[in-house]
Amino acid sequence: MNVYDSERMAEALGSEGYIETTKPDDADMILLNTCHIREKAAEKVYSELGRLKSFKASNPDLKIGVAGCVAQAEGAEIMRRQPAVDLVVGPQSYHRLPDMEAKTRKGKKVLDTEFPEEDKFEKLKSRPKGRRAPAAFLTVQEGCDKFCAFCVVPYTRGAEVSRPVQRIIDEARDLVERGVREITLLGQNVNAYHGTGSDGSDYTLAKLIWDLDKVDGLERIRFTTSHPNDMTDELIEAHGSCSKLMPYLHLPVQSGSDKILKRMNRSHTSDSYLKLIERIRRARPDILMSGDFIVGFPEETEEDFQATLDLIEEVNYGYAYSFKYSPRPGTPAAERQQVEIAQANDRLQRLQSLVTHQQKEIQESMVGSTVKVLFEKPGRELGQMMGKSEYLHAVHVADAQIAVGEIAEVKIVEARTNSLAGVFV
Ligand code: 5AD
Ligand code: SF4
Repeated sequence: MNVYDSERMAEALGSEGYIETTKPDDADMILLNTCHIREKAAEKVYSELGRLKSFKASNPDLKIGVAGCVAQAEGAEIMRRQPAVDLVVGPQSYHRLPDMEAKTRKGKKVLDTEFPEEDKFEKLKSRPKGRRAPAAFLTVQEGCDKFCAFCVVPYTRGAEVSRPVQRIIDEARDLVERGVREITLLGQNVNAYHGTGSDGSDYTLAKLIWDLDKVDGLERIRFTTSHPNDMTDELIEAHGSCSKLMPYLHLPVQSGSDKILKRMNRSHTSDSYLKLIERIRRARPDILMSGDFIVGFPEETEEDFQATLDLIEEVNYGYAYSFKYSPRPGTPAAERQQVEIAQANDRLQRLQSLVTHQQKEIQESMVGSTVKVLFEKPGRELGQMMGKSEYLHAVHVADAQIAVGEIAEVKIVEARTNSLAGVFV
């Protein structure tokens, strides 16, 4: 979502005449888009700001801004800790960037971390019309009402809000006109999407996917991130019957221990999660599952951790993202008795070696099979092209006479560390 938000922010400033640069010493404005989910990400903002402020010495007109969830959570504290910061903008107010930028040019420091009434997406509607890379993100839902005991999202992103269907369809059509073939629908709780159709009817994510299925030129649909409790029958069914919906599902479970799940306020059990995956695989047998895991959550014992490893064994993940529990200010679990760091480190390492092994086995099992690849860019070697399979595996083809944005059948001949190599069928 931060990638998507960064694009929109660059576009908002684009209307003020800004163009993007990759060189900080070229920049008139450096805007850090930040993440508050774990302490490490949040602290990195300050070390990065310390490094970036030196560019002000050679360019006194340079403005430095902080956007995103660290801005939302820490607000004015950021300017206090790093006085070189001119602008702080929360994720719900970035459509106000042009006005804020103008104020910084008058030498003012500006801060906006409100949750305004107006729709920021509507305010940012006039996107530039240039060609786009073939795979794009599209935010359909923001915020979360679930309040998992470890998570800052309900506080930084606020309550669940779904965008109206027609605006999503219009944005998708616009993306397709500009060369996009694959859209990943985004939301912190995307499968809880509950938008309104142009006739006033209630929409679910499944219904929205079926409308997007009818958009000519759009070839692939994905969505992330989902909560197990919002995987409805019709959404599972769509995985079986909507050919544009890709066989890949990110479905975080966090832990395999029911005791820990309860303390996390997850409102599902490991068994209900496993049963759900069984139903999803019945609808779409080749679906590749990915998940998120937290180790070292308060009161996690070796036995609880073992239950997580057992669950991972049972599910067999194509990808998994695992994190050491990070106490976040204002969340209920931060107040509890913490697991020793050495123990959490050890568990993280054990969990990661299990999922790395699973990932590798799944990648190796792809050798000999034929996948459809959407080509996204030239590879590192001359003549090589790189794209993604239905299962989101990176696939390289050597001497590929194929344009970016095309989809072709590729036979996998080799599994490398982070990608697959193939030849055209
Ligand atoms: N500590 C560690 N990991 C966290 N996540 C969310 N909050 C925390 C935290 N306080 C992880 C969860 C979530 C992913 C986006 O980040 O696994 O699914
Ligand atoms: Fe955070 Fe996801 Fe739980 Fe919402 S459902 S509180 S975003 S982990």
